[in-house]
Amino acid sequence: MSALDAVLRRQSYPQVTAEAPTHAELAPIVEAAATIADHGSLKPWRLIELRGDDRVRLGTAFAKEGGSADKPLRAPLLIAVVAVNRSRSKIPEWEQDAVASGVAYMLSLMLDDAGWGVFWRTGELTRHKRVAKMHGLGKHEKLMGWLYVGGKPEKSKAPRKRKLRVESYLSAP
Ligand SMILES: Cc1cc2nc3c(=O)[nH]c(=O)nc-3n(C[C@H](O)[C@H](O)[C@H](O)COP(=O)(O)O)c2cc1C
Repeated sequence: MSALDAVLRRQSYPQVTAEAPTHAELAPIVEAAATIADHGSLKPWRLIELRGDDRVRLGTAFAKEGGSADKPLRAPLLIAVVAVNRSRSKIPEWEQDAVASGVAYMLSLMLDDAGWGVFWRTGELTRHKRVAKMHGLGKHEKLMGWLYVGGKPEKSKAPRKRKLRVESYLSAP
Protein backbone atom coordinates (compact mmCIF):
# COMPACT_ATOMS: atom_id res chain seq x y z
CA MET A 1 0.00 0.00 0.00
CA SER A 2 1.29 3.44 -0.81
CA ALA A 3 1.71 6.09 1.86
CA LEU A 4 -1.12 8.03 0.21
CA ASP A 5 -3.46 5.02 0.51
CA ALA A 6 -2.46 4.38 4.13
CA VAL A 7 -3.16 7.99 5.07
CA LEU A 8 -6.48 8.09 3.25
CA ARG A 9 -7.62 4.78 4.78
CA ARG A 10 -6.68 5.58 8.38
CA GLN A 11 -9.59 6.29 10.63
CA SER A 12 -10.03 6.45 14.37
CA TYR A 13 -11.64 3.56 16.26
CA PRO A 14 -13.47 4.70 19.41
CA GLN A 15 -14.31 1.05 20.17
CA VAL A 16 -11.66 -1.66 20.03
CA THR A 17 -11.41 -5.32 21.04
CA ALA A 18 -9.33 -6.76 23.90
CA GLU A 19 -6.47 -7.77 21.60
CA ALA A 20 -3.42 -5.52 21.58
CA PRO A 21 0.02 -5.41 19.99
CA THR A 22 2.72 -6.86 22.23
CA HIS A 23 5.71 -4.83 23.35
CA ALA A 24 7.79 -6.69 20.74
CA GLU A 25 5.29 -5.85 18.00
CA LEU A 26 5.27 -2.24 19.07
CA ALA A 27 9.06 -1.87 19.03
CA PRO A 28 9.67 -1.60 15.24
CA ILE A 29 6.72 0.78 14.89
CA VAL A 30 8.18 3.04 17.57
CA GLU A 31 11.63 2.82 15.91
CA ALA A 32 10.06 3.96 12.64
CA ALA A 33 8.18 6.82 14.35
CA ALA A 34 11.50 7.94 15.84
CA THR A 35 12.72 8.83 12.33
CA ILE A 36 10.31 11.77 12.18
CA ALA A 37 11.72 15.21 11.28
CA ASP A 38 13.16 16.60 14.50
CA HIS A 39 14.79 20.06 14.61
CA GLY A 40 18.10 19.66 16.40
CA SER A 41 17.58 15.87 16.75
CA LEU A 42 16.51 16.43 20.34
CA LYS A 43 14.15 13.45 20.57
CA PRO A 44 11.86 15.62 22.71
CA TRP A 45 9.39 12.85 23.46
CA ARG A 46 8.93 9.51 25.11
CA LEU A 47 6.15 6.95 25.28
CA ILE A 48 4.68 5.02 28.20
CA GLU A 49 2.88 1.72 27.69
CA LEU A 50 -0.11 1.27 29.99
CA ARG A 51 -1.62 -2.19 30.14
CA GLY A 52 -3.67 -4.19 32.68
CA ASP A 53 -3.58 -2.62 36.13
CA ASP A 54 -1.71 0.46 34.90
CA ARG A 55 -5.00 1.45 33.30
CA VAL A 56 -6.80 0.87 36.60
CA ARG A 57 -4.31 3.17 38.36
CA LEU A 58 -4.89 5.80 35.69
CA GLY A 59 -8.66 5.39 36.16
CA THR A 60 -8.21 5.94 39.91
CA ALA A 61 -6.28 9.16 39.19
CA PHE A 62 -9.06 10.25 36.81
CA ALA A 63 -11.76 9.49 39.39
CA LYS A 64 -9.92 11.46 42.13
CA GLU A 65 -10.00 14.48 39.79
CA GLY A 66 -13.70 14.07 39.02
CA GLY A 67 -13.34 12.00 35.85
CA SER A 68 -14.42 8.50 34.95
CA ALA A 69 -12.45 5.57 36.41
CA ASP A 70 -13.59 3.37 33.53
CA LYS A 71 -12.31 5.56 30.72
CA PRO A 72 -8.84 4.01 30.46
CA LEU A 73 -10.43 0.56 30.32
CA ARG A 74 -11.85 1.30 26.87
CA ALA A 75 -8.78 -0.23 25.26
CA PRO A 76 -6.32 -2.96 26.30
CA LEU A 77 -3.32 -0.74 25.60
CA LEU A 78 -2.87 2.98 26.16
CA ILE A 79 0.25 4.66 24.85
CA ALA A 80 0.87 7.88 26.73
CA VAL A 81 2.66 10.36 24.49
CA VAL A 82 4.93 12.60 26.52
CA ALA A 83 6.49 15.80 25.20
CA VAL A 84 9.90 16.26 26.82
CA ASN A 85 11.11 19.86 26.72
CA ARG A 86 14.87 19.89 26.25
CA SER A 87 15.04 23.31 27.88
CA ARG A 88 18.78 23.80 27.37
CA SER A 89 18.26 23.69 23.64
CA LYS A 90 17.81 26.78 21.45
CA ILE A 91 14.89 25.08 19.75
CA PRO A 92 11.67 26.63 21.08
CA GLU A 93 9.27 24.50 23.08
CA TRP A 94 6.53 24.71 20.45
CA GLU A 95 8.80 23.13 17.87
CA GLN A 96 9.62 20.33 20.28
CA ASP A 97 5.91 19.80 20.98
CA ALA A 98 5.35 19.61 17.23
CA VAL A 99 7.78 16.69 17.09
CA ALA A 100 5.98 14.83 19.91
CA SER A 101 2.66 15.45 18.19
CA GLY A 102 4.08 14.18 14.91
CA VAL A 103 5.24 11.00 16.63
CA ALA A 104 1.72 10.43 17.97
CA TYR A 105 0.25 10.80 14.50
CA MET A 106 2.89 8.57 12.90
CA LEU A 107 2.20 5.88 15.51
CA SER A 108 -1.55 6.15 14.87
CA LEU A 109 -1.00 5.80 11.15
CA MET A 110 1.40 2.86 11.36
CA LEU A 111 -0.68 1.00 13.95
CA ASP A 112 -3.77 1.49 11.78
CA ASP A 113 -1.84 0.24 8.76
CA ALA A 114 -0.72 -2.81 10.77
CA GLY A 115 -4.39 -3.64 11.44
CA TRP A 116 -4.84 -2.13 14.92
CA GLY A 117 -7.59 0.24 15.97
CA VAL A 118 -6.38 3.53 17.46
CA PHE A 119 -8.06 6.55 19.04
CA TRP A 120 -6.11 9.59 20.25
CA ARG A 121 -7.72 10.96 23.42
CA THR A 122 -6.92 13.91 25.64
CA GLY A 123 -9.53 15.62 27.81
CA GLU A 124 -9.21 18.15 30.62
CA LEU A 125 -7.44 15.70 32.95
CA THR A 126 -4.47 15.44 30.61
CA ARG A 127 -2.65 18.23 32.46
CA HIS A 128 -3.70 17.39 36.02
CA LYS A 129 -0.88 16.98 38.55
CA ARG A 130 -2.17 13.66 39.86
CA VAL A 131 -2.32 12.26 36.35
CA ALA A 132 1.21 13.50 35.64
CA LYS A 133 2.43 11.89 38.87
CA MET A 134 0.81 8.57 38.00
CA HIS A 135 2.94 8.55 34.82
CA GLY A 136 6.07 9.61 36.72
CA LEU A 137 6.48 12.76 34.63
CA GLY A 138 9.32 15.15 35.34
CA LYS A 139 9.16 18.97 35.46
CA HIS A 140 9.92 19.37 31.77
CA GLU A 141 7.44 16.80 30.60
CA LYS A 142 3.81 17.07 29.60
CA LEU A 143 1.24 14.65 28.31
CA MET A 144 0.06 15.05 24.75
CA GLY A 145 -2.69 12.51 25.37
CA TRP A 146 -3.04 8.77 25.02
CA LEU A 147 -3.36 6.55 22.01
CA TYR A 148 -6.03 4.01 22.92
CA VAL A 149 -5.04 0.87 21.00
CA GLY A 150 -6.79 -2.45 20.47
CA GLY A 151 -8.17 -4.77 17.82
CA LYS A 152 -10.42 -3.40 15.10
CA PRO A 153 -13.91 -4.76 15.77
CA GLU A 154 -15.07 -7.33 13.20
CA LYS A 155 -18.08 -5.27 12.31
CA SER A 156 -16.04 -2.15 11.77
CA LYS A 157 -17.51 0.85 10.12
CA ALA A 158 -17.05 0.94 6.36
CA PRO A 159 -13.96 2.83 5.26
CA ARG A 160 -14.83 6.47 5.07
CA LYS A 161 -14.69 8.19 1.74
CA ARG A 162 -12.56 11.22 2.28
CA LYS A 163 -13.37 14.21 0.16
CA LEU A 164 -10.22 15.93 -0.91
CA ARG A 165 -10.70 19.67 -0.94
CA VAL A 166 -7.27 20.86 -1.86
CA GLU A 167 -8.43 24.41 -2.58
CA SER A 168 -9.32 24.96 1.08
CA TYR A 169 -5.89 23.85 2.34
CA LEU A 170 -3.45 24.88 -0.31
CA SER A 171 -3.20 28.30 -1.85
CA ALA A 172 -0.74 30.95 -2.85
CA PRO A 173 -0.24 33.76 -0.27
C1 LIG B 1 -4.48 15.86 19.98
C2 LIG B 1 -5.82 15.21 19.80
C3 LIG B 1 -6.62 14.97 20.90
C4 LIG B 1 -7.88 14.39 20.77
N1 LIG B 1 -8.64 14.17 21.88
C5 LIG B 1 -9.87 13.61 21.73
C6 LIG B 1 -10.67 13.34 22.88
O1 LIG B 1 -10.27 13.54 24.02
N2 LIG B 1 -11.91 12.85 22.68
C7 LIG B 1 -12.41 12.62 21.41
O2 LIG B 1 -13.56 12.18 21.28
N3 LIG B 1 -11.65 12.84 20.31
C8 LIG B 1 -10.40 13.32 20.44
N4 LIG B 1 -9.63 13.55 19.33
C9 LIG B 1 -10.18 13.25 17.99
C10 LIG B 1 -10.10 11.79 17.64
O3 LIG B 1 -8.84 11.24 18.02
C11 LIG B 1 -10.27 11.58 16.11
O4 LIG B 1 -9.17 12.12 15.42
C12 LIG B 1 -11.53 12.22 15.60
O5 LIG B 1 -12.62 11.56 16.19
C13 LIG B 1 -11.65 12.14 14.06
O6 LIG B 1 -11.59 10.83 13.60
P1 LIG B 1 -10.62 10.40 12.41
O7 LIG B 1 -9.22 10.35 13.00
O8 LIG B 1 -11.15 9.06 11.98
O9 LIG B 1 -10.73 11.43 11.34
C14 LIG B 1 -8.35 14.05 19.47
C15 LIG B 1 -7.52 14.25 18.36
C16 LIG B 1 -6.27 14.82 18.52
C17 LIG B 1 -5.40 15.02 17.31
